[in-house]
This record gives sequence, C-alpha cells and structure tokens, in this order.
Amino acid sequence: MSAVQRSDQVELATVNLMDVGWFAEGPPHDLFARMRAEAPVRWNPLAGGGFWSLTRHADISAVSRDTDTFSSCRGGIFLHPDQVVPLEMTRNLLLYKDPPEHTKYRLILQKAFTPHSVAKLEDAVRVRVTKTIDAVIEAGACDFAHDIAVPVPLGVLAELMGLPEADIARLYAWTEAIEEAQRAPEPAAATDVFAEMGIYLNEQIQVQTGGESLVMSLRRAEVDGEQLDETEILLFFGLLVFAGNDTTRNTAATGMLALLEHPDQLGALRARPELIPGAVEEILRFTSVVNYFARTATKDTEISDQSIPAGDKVILWYTSASRDEAVFDEPQRFDVSRTRPDHKAFGGGGRHFCLGAGLARLELRVLFEEVIRRLEGIERAGPIERLVSSWAHGLVSMPVRFAPARREG
Ligand code: HEM
Repeated sequence: MSAVQRSDQVELATVNLMDVGWFAEGPPHDLFARMRAEAPVRWNPLAGGGFWSLTRHADISAVSRDTDTFSSCRGGIFLHPDQVVPLEMTRNLLLYKDPPEHTKYRLILQKAFTPHSVAKLEDAVRVRVTKTIDAVIEAGACDFAHDIAVPVPLGVLAELMGLPEADIARLYAWTEAIEEAQRAPEPAAATDVFAEMGIYLNEQIQVQTGGESLVMSLRRAEVDGEQLDETEILLFFGLLVFAGNDTTRNTAATGMLALLEHPDQLGALRARPELIPGAVEEILRFTSVVNYFARTATKDTEISDQSIPAGDKVILWYTSASRDEAVFDEPQRFDVSRTRPDHKAFGGGGRHFCLGAGLARLELRVLFEEVIRRLEGIERAGPIERLVSSWAHGLVSMPVRFAPARREG
C-alpha cells in the first residue's frame, strides 16, 4: 500500500490494518469512519490467521465489559501473543489476567491510585513540570516531544516508585528500546530490554526497606494471605513503566500538536485556563493514543449479529470508538469546550479500565496549565516525526519555539 491510500477509494475487503502504512500520518480516521458505517465487525485476513476489527463505540464497550466471553489471558492483548514479550511472561501482568485472579491483583495497585492518593501528588507533579519547563524556557525553543512530553511522566513514575533521580536516563533508554520494538508491523520481542530492566528494578526492590513508595506498598501487599514474591513485584513495576509512561507522553505530544493545529482552541485556553481540565478530556478523545488492545473469544458468540467462533481474536480499535458519530457530534472536530466526552482513550470500560487514568489526567492538566501559562506564542518550528505504529499513536519529535511569558506583577 502507498503511504496513505485513499480510504474513500479502497476496497474495504482488501484493507489490512496491521499494515503500518495506514498509520504513517496518524491513525486513518477516514478509513475508520467508513468501517463504522459499512463493516463495523470486519474480518481482517492475515497470513497465518486473521482477526475481527471492531470499530464502533458500543461494540467495544460491550466486549470490554464481558470478560467471561472475551479473555485477555488466553491470547494476550496484542495481535500476536508473543509480541513485545513472550506470552508466558506477560500472562503474569495485570493487563493479561482474567477474573477472578485479575480482581485480586488489581486491588493491590488500586490503593495507590485512588482519587485521594492521586490528589496528594499534585504538588510533586507541578514541581516536575516546572523543572522540565525551566530547562528549556530561556532557549526559546525545544523539541516538545523529547524535552517536555518525555521527562514529565517518566519522572513522576520514578518518584512514585522511589527510584533515584539519577537513574531516570536509564529508564528512558529502556522505554525507548521497548517502543522501538513496537514500531515494526510485527513488533520484535523486547525480551532483552525487559531482562536488563528487570535486573535494575530487582536491585531497587532490595535497596528500599522503608518509606511510602509504591515498592514498599507492593512489599506489604498480600494476595490470599501471601505476600507478593520478588518476581511479582517486578512485574508490577514493569507494567507501570509500560502502561503509564509512553501513553502519557504520547498524549502530551499529540495533544500539543492538536492545539498548535487549532490556534483558536489554544487561544481559548490561554484566555480561560479554567477550561483546561475539560480540554484534557477532548485531547484524550481526539488523540486516543492506544489504538487498540485485543481479546480472544472463549466460546462461540456474536457481536452485532456477526458470529464469532471460539478462539478468534478480536481487536478493539479505541481510536475509532473515540470518534464514533453515534456518540459524538462532529467527531472529527477538535473542540475543547465539549462536555465530558465519553472517549475510549483509557479502554472500553469494565474491569481493565486504565488504573492510572486519574494520574494521567493530573499530569496532563498540570502540564498544559504550565505550558500555556509560561510559553507565550508557542508554535511549530520544524517538521514533526511520527511514531509509525498500528498500536500506538505518538510523536518522536516536534520542534517548537516560544517566548517566556512575562511575569505578572
Ligand atoms: C494518557 C495516558 C494513558 C492512556 C491513554 C492509557 C490507556 C490505557 C488503556 C487503553 C488500558 C487498557 C484498558 C482495557 O484493556 O480496557 C490501560 C490499562 C492500564 N493502565 Fe493506562 N493509560 C494511561 C496512563 C496510565 C498511567 C499513568 C498508569 C499508571 C502509572 C497506567 C496504568 C495502567 C494499568 C495498571 C492498566 C491495567 C489495568 C488492568 O488491566 O486492570 N496507565 N491504560
């Protein structure tokens, strides 16, 4: 397929959504709109198998909430079970568990992410964002994706886990390597990177013996009266680095791009900063950076009158659901004044709904508050480089220039 094939001309039956060419200029929103209208539950053939593509908001919500029929554990949450990390290993991660095991393990992490616990992090998040902006503000230019979107979530996560500030660069290098592995159409297993990261995190688990970090809460946690062993703690760590880092950074970068491409919307936020929390929801909807997760049917079933045989893979295109015209008025329009859009950026709802949603919202709100307040006249200063992947929507690079805002009073 050419870089971006015209979605209004292509024969839907020939489309392979795992061809990253469709994502070269961001998610193929026109194609998804056609699929929602013409083939909302569509078989996508692939050499050696295939999958069902789900593009409607309602179907994605229904499948996400039915964990008996649609398993995360059986075939994993990517198209290929051993994508990124072998399934035998990833099955131990929360994202890959089915109830009742999932429920027990989720409870452990849930305590760290209650609205109360997250609210307590606001000052620390603001300090982190301020430091990040301080590092670039006098230069009047930076790479927004690299210099602002990356350090904030990584730093917040390191702090949450009680890791030394000096080790952030290593964490960054690992997450880059994992992301690199995800880019290919059939992403390579990132086993070596996870092994190296595992050794480091294991050392950190040994070193921490007190305090209130997440490591210590994991050390104290119990499942069925048993404490977690070191491997389990390690896997929780790995999960947080994987689930909480790139997602937030990609939303910050693509969200900033959306604002720069819609100067009227950016202007509205400058004039009325109280609109920023609502704008974060619209940014989440519009950018919806996790394009999909997968499920496997545990029994013969139906989705919107389409029979789905047991064992088939179902791909939930959250990106498409977040722009479903059945739910949103003019879904392709970026409008920061939308009221509470019911987007699918954090998943389809139900048991696996993003555990870090509150933290991500906090980080994004504070980041956009400070960027808009402190960086005057921010504008693009060069071509963007996209992360080209059918799974993740993000930016590798976005040069911007700006002037430091004059301080009032
Ligand atoms: C804008 C940023 C984020 C986005 C777009 C995002 C998106 C998602 C999505 C789509 C899921 C899967 C939901 C499902 O399968 O139904 C998920 C799950 C998860 N996320 Fe996030 N996430 C973000 C930030 C975070 C953060 C900051 C953390 C924690 C530090 C986090 C931790 C998790 C965890 C632990 C799960 C697994 C929940 C489970 O399986 O029960 N996420 N996230």
